[in-house]
Formats: sequence, C-alpha cells, structure tokens
Amino acid sequence: MNFDVSNIRKDFPSLHQTVYGKPLVYLDNAATSQKPISVIEAISGYYSTINSNVHRGVHFLSQKATDAFEGARNHICSYLNARHSHEIIYTRGATDAINLVASSFGKKYIRKGDEVIVSALEHHANIVPWQTICNEKQAKLRVIPMNDDGELLLSEFETLMNDRTRMVAIGHISNALGIINPVKTITALAHQRGIPVMIDGAQGIVHKKVDVQELDCDFYCFSGHKFYGPMGIGVLYGKEEILNELPPYQTGGEMIKTVTFEKTTFNDLPFKFESGTPNVADVIGFDRSLSYIESIGMDQIESYEDDLLDYASRKLMMIHGLKIYGEKCRRSGVISFTLDRIHPYDAGTIIDKFGIALRTGNHCAQPVMDRLNIPGTLRASFAFYNTKEEADVLADAILKVQEMLG
Ligand SMILES: Cc1ncc(COP(=O)(O)O)c(C=O)c1O
Repeated sequence: MNFDVSNIRKDFPSLHQTVYGKPLVYLDNAATSQKPISVIEAISGYYSTINSNVHRGVHFLSQKATDAFEGARNHICSYLNARHSHEIIYTRGATDAINLVASSFGKKYIRKGDEVIVSALEHHANIVPWQTICNEKQAKLRVIPMNDDGELLLSEFETLMNDRTRMVAIGHISNALGIINPVKTITALAHQRGIPVMIDGAQGIVHKKVDVQELDCDFYCFSGHKFYGPMGIGVLYGKEEILNELPPYQTGGEMIKTVTFEKTTFNDLPFKFESGTPNVADVIGFDRSLSYIESIGMDQIESYEDDLLDYASRKLMMIHGLKIYGEKCRRSGVISFTLDRIHPYDAGTIIDKFGIALRTGNHCAQPVMDRLNIPGTLRASFAFYNTKEEADVLADAILKVQEMLG
C-alpha cells in the first residue's frame, strides 16, 4: 500500500494551522471537507485565465470555458460509470438535486393518495422536499423504520411498498451515525415492484466507489464540497429515459430551444435542467477534486478510512461513560457519541478549545435523534487525511471534558 497520509496532508493547506494555539484537528468532514491545493488553484486559474460564460460564445475564452465545463461532465460520467454524459446534471448541491427530483418527478407522477418512501435515517434534505411535494399533492410520506442500533428494517420496507408507492428515496450513508445502508438491495426490491429509487449520496460518494449502473438506481446525487471540491456545486445523475420524461425544474435561459410569447420549447438533456448561467468555476474545481481522488484511488482511501475508523472507535469505546450510536452496524467515516451526564453542546464547546473541530447537535437529522431519544450527539467525522494521532488527541480531550464537567 503506497498510501502515505503525511504526504497527502501536504496537499491540504488549511490543515496546517493552529487554533487556540493548538494544531487544528479537523473532524467535521461530514459537514464539509478541506480542499487540496490543486482544487483551489483550479478555481483561481479559471478566474484569472478563461473566465467566460459557457455555451453562448463563439469567442476563444467562451470556447475554452465550455470545453472545460463539458469535459468535467464527461469526467463525472465516467467516474460514476453512467451511460451518457447528458445523464449528469449540474446542481448547487445534494439539497438542490433532491428538490429538483421531488418537484419535477412529483409534478408529473405523484397524485392524491400516492405514497413516497424515505427512511428513518435521512438527512432533512431527503425528507423535507418529499414531504413538501406529498403535502402539495395530498400524498403520503412513509418511513422505513430502524432498530435501536440504527439498522433499517428491510422486512418492514417490503411491507411498506404497494401499488401507490411512486418513489423510494434513501440515503447511501447516514451523516448522523455513519451507517451504510444496503442501497443495492433496497433498489432491487423496489424495482421488483416497478418503483424508481433515488439515492442521496452526499456521504456515500465520499467513502465508497459508486457505480450507478451496478447500483441500478434511477437517481443518485451528491455535493462537491463534501467530496474535496468547492461549495455551490453538486451533481444529479438520472437515467436518461426517466429524465427525458420529467418536466423542467426551473425555467429561463439555457434550458430552452425556442421562445416566443406564445410558446417555449425546452432544450435537450442535460440543459433542460440547467437554467441560467452555471457555476463554471466550481465545476472546473470539482473536476480537479475528482482527478485528485482518482490519483490516490478510492480503494486505498476506503481501506485507510476503515482502518482509521476502527482504531478511533476502539479508542473511544474504552472511555467510561461514552456511548457510540450505530456501533453494531457497518459504518463509514463517522463516530456519533454521547457522554453520560454531559450535554453534547457543552462537551463540543470545550473540545473546540483543544483545536478539535467536531459537530454537536442533531446533524440535520432530527428524526434520528427523536428515534434514539436523545437531544443530539457529538460527531467526529473522518477523512483520509486524518490520522490515528488525531484520534488520540480527541480521546484525550474527551477525558479532560469528563474531568471538568462529569
Ligand atoms: C446525507 C446528506 N444528505 C444531504 C445533505 C445536504 O447536502 P448539501 O447541504 O451540500 O446540499 C447532507 C449534508 O450534510 C448530507 O449529509
């Protein structure tokens, strides 16, 4: 294995700083990851050389920008193993992509009395857009329950599906607990009944190699900023045949073929879903982050991260009064925990003073916390640039918190 974390860390300028006089230990990667220098340079390189609007110009810069913008789409297509590059739609992020599908799919296919299935483990981004369209259409949102360990109950899922189920929308990896959901099985079970599946891959893409043809999902989405790319850019993959049938989400320039005051005809995929001037710089930045990930290799990343998570989990489990949620499940990237008699917010505030960036609260997954009957957790979320030494620093800081507040 030629994975060398100390070399990798050199590529991330933001990791090399002190916070309150202590070396930064960045463990909030599920919220957003740090960026390699090549991504930062790609963004400034775009603005300092080929900044121009895409698709519309015959001039040199516009053609250069268009080539880079469409080249990135081809790159994402091959990374995800999608069949066609027009199955890749640029969005602002995962939230935007889910809103696009919920709104557009919902407008066309969801009727009064229909049902949409989500799971008990979802981020709010994969609940609220579906809840909103269900309310609008007088349809019903149904929920795959989970057990006390955080595992989804597949037998219950099978009984939830019926002739009125129009969509199954499911997270790949839970941001709140790190649990890996059996999305391939869920997709196959839904497809047996002819029900399409949307996978929220905001956390999944970061920790797993994703092959959309192998998953056979109808939609897969994620955000660039959690995947070592810039903020404000995301991806929606959708199968061509289903995207072709959907009405546009937002309207305006770029997404049209012809416009008169009487009638507008819409553009082909992917442009039908990309109205207005796109976020060219961040598409180019994201393209570079994908190249960076490929240069290391997702297999290497996955095995390093699994080993690191295992080490950190064991270390934290040795701390008396610390409880890890989802501990018995297959997890990736995340340790979500509470400390006896100490509120997560109080603990997080003190841990911050040790230079450690953690997240506290419900992690935009309030129903998960309600199900576990807790107000929130402390969440340490790891990336491939984190180290075992950083896990040790976290464990020491937790012991100090217990001394101070316990
Ligand atoms: C599982 C999951 N889905 C969706 C989102 C929303 O992502 P964004 O805020 O980048 O749109 C997040 C962000 O934390 C997430 O973790």
